[in-house]
Amino acid sequence: MAMLTIVGWCLTFVHVSFVAIYFYLTWYHKYWDKRGAITAEPLTILGTYPGILVNKSRSLILDVQEVYNKYKDKYRAVGTFITRQPQLLILDPALAHEILVDKFSHFRDTITSSFVGHNPEDKYVERSPFFSSGEEWKRRRTENVGGLTPNRLKQAFAIWEQSGRKLVEYIERARREKGDVIETRDLSYRFTADTMADFIWGIDAGSLSGSVGEIASFQKVSTDWTVYAFSSIIRFNKSLVATFVRKLFNMRIFTKASDEFFLRLTQDAVNLRRGGSGEGRTDFLSHLIQLQERGNSIHDSVGHALVVHLDGYETSGAVLYHMLYSLSEHREEQEKLRSEILDALASNDNISYEQLNALPYLDQCVNESLRLTTPIGFFMRICTKATQIDLGNEKILELEPGVTVMIPAFQYHHDDAFYPEASEFRPDRFENGAASAFNKRGIFLPFGDGPRICLGMRVGQLSVKTAIFHILSNYLVEQTKKVPLGADTGLGIFLNGDVELKYTKLRK
Ligand code: HEM
Repeated sequence: MAMLTIVGWCLTFVHVSFVAIYFYLTWYHKYWDKRGAITAEPLTILGTYPGILVNKSRSLILDVQEVYNKYKDKYRAVGTFITRQPQLLILDPALAHEILVDKFSHFRDTITSSFVGHNPEDKYVERSPFFSSGEEWKRRRTENVGGLTPNRLKQAFAIWEQSGRKLVEYIERARREKGDVIETRDLSYRFTADTMADFIWGIDAGSLSGSVGEIASFQKVSTDWTVYAFSSIIRFNKSLVATFVRKLFNMRIFTKASDEFFLRLTQDAVNLRRGGSGEGRTDFLSHLIQLQERGNSIHDSVGHALVVHLDGYETSGAVLYHMLYSLSEHREEQEKLRSEILDALASNDNISYEQLNALPYLDQCVNESLRLTTPIGFFMRICTKATQIDLGNEKILELEPGVTVMIPAFQYHHDDAFYPEASEFRPDRFENGAASAFNKRGIFLPFGDGPRICLGMRVGQLSVKTAIFHILSNYLVEQTKKVPLGADTGLGIFLNGDVELKYTKLRK
């Protein structure tokens, strides 16, 4: 009898728990109906995008794609649920432009700013504009961009040029020792590690100057650090379902080990520079030292350094290997780009910062590659001040503070309505400065837009352009095998597997 009572209580507990969880997950499901907006289907108990929680079997970007395809021609925006929380999916790029640019003061913060503060030890991530909100964001951003002005990059351009030459030397050594086929994901990250180590800390990362195939410690730590940071962003997105777990598990974005490594590195770099090494050099380190002279701490410097390194190493490297892969597949475009580059070199042995940035076809190829890859596939913004959203069909939505919106840049970039045969690599789409017109229409957002536009856009473009310039002026790049696009990583869709490209030396 007693046994039966225990079983009975257990069953009741299980039932009550299921009912409680069900209500918890579906509590807001009438939210959009009550406000006169369409609720996107399918709607599951895991929200509109189950892929955010179970991205082994599904995928966030593909879940968003499903909703986008279904509603994009009918509505300007639809109500969705990111796990259990109401979120407005912006289907009309003109509305995306309005949110990012014109109505910025109503959508000032990004969802990533809610990812910090759960672990007091995660002190460097809190210093990044990417993860900050309000006035703190503004201050950090202003301080950081001061070190990335066009003038400073122009003065630091010798760093990129030197990395470009080292890249070619490395390719030569790799070809001699291992043959013409080089795994290009690795090659790209070697290049971005080299530029960032030199620009930010004034050191040689050893990624291009060391032995072929060997990973130097700077690059190893950088890879471990970025892999952890990007997978943490995905974990934080998942934790939207129960945000209390963030505090409960002391969730953090950067690891303790990487924090210690980069603190030591920054301290050493500052001491060396102050001791006279690299005196007079204009780079990011000299900017950090100026900020310290005005009152910043060494920890502020580490924070700023990591802002530049995170995307200067990882995101820019990812753009580079995707672009090389596309060019290896599209030989006609590769030839056209090479002749532009060789023409530029015909009158000069070296190219200047201004000349590199003024090569129109190179710019078109970078834009087309960014469009296809879209390494940051969506932006989630928090409504920070109540506002009205024109949903079309004479409906106005009153959006309240705290609700988030999603701008699906990946979907705009892959929409045949904006880019005919959108899956094709066609740099000609960006002829005659079309990028800026596409951007104003809200259909081209590889770096976002408005006051929170990517602050390292010029750095990313500079790295990719320099590497392509040096590679194409020396090698014919050919594909050896097709690489499939992988499942969604939770942030975007990338080439899955080794990118084995063949590098054949050009006769000069
Ligand atoms: C080609 C490479 C890059 C791409 C495709 C890229 C893309 C983006 C995008 C789409 C955003 C906007 C996100 C949003 O609105 O929520 C962004 C923001 C940001 N990016 Fe980049 N990025 C790149 C390189 C860089 C580099 C090199 C740096 C550092 C020097 C950087 C630092 C940042 C920061 C700090 C933000 C947040 C800005 C803010 O919220 O004020 N990015 N990036």
